Amino acid sequence: MRLYLLFLVLSVLMFMWACRTEIPFDPGTLEPETNDTIPGDTMVVNPIDTSVMDTVAQPCDTSMVYFQSDILPILVGNCAFAGCHDPISAEHGLIMTSYEGLTAHGGTVVPYNLDKSELYEKITEDDLSDRMPPPPNAALTQTQISLIAKWIEQGALNNQCDELMVCDTSTVSYVADLSPIFSTYCVTCHGDVNPNAGINLNSYSGVSTAAKSGKLLGVITWSNGFIKMPQGGNQLSACNINLIDAWITQGALNN
Ligand code: HEC
Repeated sequence: MRLYLLFLVLSVLMFMWACRTEIPFDPGTLEPETNDTIPGDTMVVNPIDTSVMDTVAQPCDTSMVYFQSDILPILVGNCAFAGCHDPISAEHGLIMTSYEGLTAHGGTVVPYNLDKSELYEKITEDDLSDRMPPPPNAALTQTQISLIAKWIEQGALNNQCDELMVCDTSTVSYVADLSPIFSTYCVTCHGDVNPNAGINLNSYSGVSTAAKSGKLLGVITWSNGFIKMPQGGNQLSACNINLIDAWITQGALNN
């Protein structure tokens, strides 16, 4: 038993030592832009103004880009691989799994300034040997690049929003609330003519029948035993799902 404990302590120590030595931190590779001065200004610029950092959720504003829901998933999905910008590899000292990691060194993102933001420069680089993510990985899509650009231009905040804060489910109307959801996400396949599965979501009778059978809620919540709708698409937003759910609970009225 004692021997076992000793072994455990030793291996934890060795593990910690290994982690210390594995994280390559080479200040020489960091961009010096952090301490750039604005022309005509002698003050050193701190690019990330922590006083405006906003980690508290606020109601979603469709004109805003949010770091937590819009930007972080792009970085995690395209940059935070082993050997690149995951917490262990931390290439160039950059860890792309959090806002803190991304902004640890000034110059990576410079609020309101695309030209000075190295992140933007790298993802739009024409020279493939310099582009991020590097080949053979694909470049970011134009939509992803535009989102990142807009986020930097809006101040590169650590912001997030709460869609449900502006989601009013107290009295849900079929005409005003639900019909637009089905028109946007469902009627291309469930319209008046030859609807898939025989379910017409362009009419109250079709929707209420699907609602009463339990299938409507099952397919949009991606519950076990139901196929996932919209077919091949992203799940409806939490607010849209809550609206449909509340409308069913309120009697699935033709209101
Ligand atoms: C791209 C086409 C497409 C879109 C968009 C789509 N569906 Fe479907 N839907 C289908 C097809 C195809 C089926 C039949 C699938 C099957 O039976 O395997 C189906 C079946 C269903 C069913 C019946 C499920 C069952 O178990 O019988 C419901 C309910 C449904 N869809 C609701 C929706 C809702 C709600 C939306 C929008 C949020 C939506 N669908 C969007 C193609 C689509």
